[in-house]
This record gives sequence, C-alpha cells and structure tokens, in this order.
Amino acid sequence: MRILVLHGPNLNLLGRREPDVYGSETLASIEARLRSQAEARHCTLEFFQANAEHAIVERIHQAMDDATDGILINPAAFTHTSVAIRDALAAAGLPFVEVHLSNPDAREPFRQKSMLADLAAGRIAGFGGDSYILGFSGLCSLLGPAASE
Ligand code: DQA
Repeated sequence: MRILVLHGPNLNLLGRREPDVYGSETLASIEARLRSQAEARHCTLEFFQANAEHAIVERIHQAMDDATDGILINPAAFTHTSVAIRDALAAAGLPFVEVHLSNPDAREPFRQKSMLADLAAGRIAGFGGDSYILGFSGLCSLLGPAASE
C-alpha cells in the first residue's frame, strides 16, 4: 500500500509558527511518527510539502501514475481557496483524507469553508499532529485489510 502525504504552505514552519494555534511539534516529527505507524502496517509513505499551489497540483498529477493508493492532505491555506487543488484531486480520483492541526471550523469565518471537504473520504481536525495519525489510520482502514494490518 502506498500513501502520499501532502503538506500545504507554511507547514514547513511548524514548531515555530503560531505555536498557540498549531502546537510546538515540527513537521519532521509528525513525519517520523507517521513513518513508524506506516512501518507497522507495511505501508509505503511519500511526503511532499510545498508553498506553491502549482507544485501541489503537479504532485497530485504524478500520484495518478506512480501507484499511489490514497492521499493524506493538509492543504493549509489552500483548503479555503484552491479550486485547482480540488480539481486535481477530483481528476486523480484517489481516496483522500483532509487533515488539519487546528479546528478551522472554530476559527475565522474564512476558514470555515473547505474547497475539498465534499470530495474527501473523511476529515480530521483539531488534534495537532495527532490529526495526521488519526487521518492515516482512517485512510488505511478505507484502503482495506492489507493497509490496516
Ligand atoms: C491548517 C488550517 C488552515 O486554515 C491554515 O491556513 C493552515 C493550517 C491547520 O492545519 O490547522 O495553514 O490547515
């Protein structure tokens, strides 16, 4: 089983970016935790972080041809704005789970709209780095027994 983990803009700054909102855990730490979960499930993870919308769109296109089975995505600010990322995910047709460290629904009104939510297999928000772990677990269950071992 092969899962692509996508991180949107500014998530490279986790650990020093608004820690009161996003916590003090770094992206490297979240990725290490995901990697150990994935090993236990015999699952291959690919990580990709970009601050540019087109780079995320192009990485989703690549996932259509590299045997990716599902996508775990924190689109960050693009959650609320990106028709292009929505369209790329729709084109890829791969199951995906949307995750957020904070709970956007409990924040400013402009964060309460997700361009992706209605296409997502599921959404996890508000648990800091654990949102990724919970989302990964949900995606594995969805992808079937081989991924959930
Ligand atoms: C975020 C929430 C978004 O509203 C914000 O723009 C982010 C991070 C989160 O993980 O809580 O950059 O996706």
